[in-house]
Amino acid sequence: MPHVRVDPGKCQGHARCLVFAPEIFDLDDEGYSFVPEEHRHREQMTEDLRLAVANCPERAIVVKED
Ligand code: F3S
Repeated sequence: MPHVRVDPGKCQGHARCLVFAPEIFDLDDEGYSFVPEEHRHREQMTEDLRLAVANCPERAIVVKED
């Protein structure tokens, strides 16, 4: 199962991830993206997640297979 997170060292708050996958990502009080715990483990790679990964200019979204 894919596991998704945002690398806080790379995220610059472009918020493209929220445009493409608003049900996976959230923004913290400073405008940086994170994935809430309940959304981290995905059943499968979905199109919204794939687009979010592809459109993050900082390549900050990390998807790994468990
Ligand atoms: Fe950050 Fe990339 Fe989203 S820079 S806010 S993870 S589009």
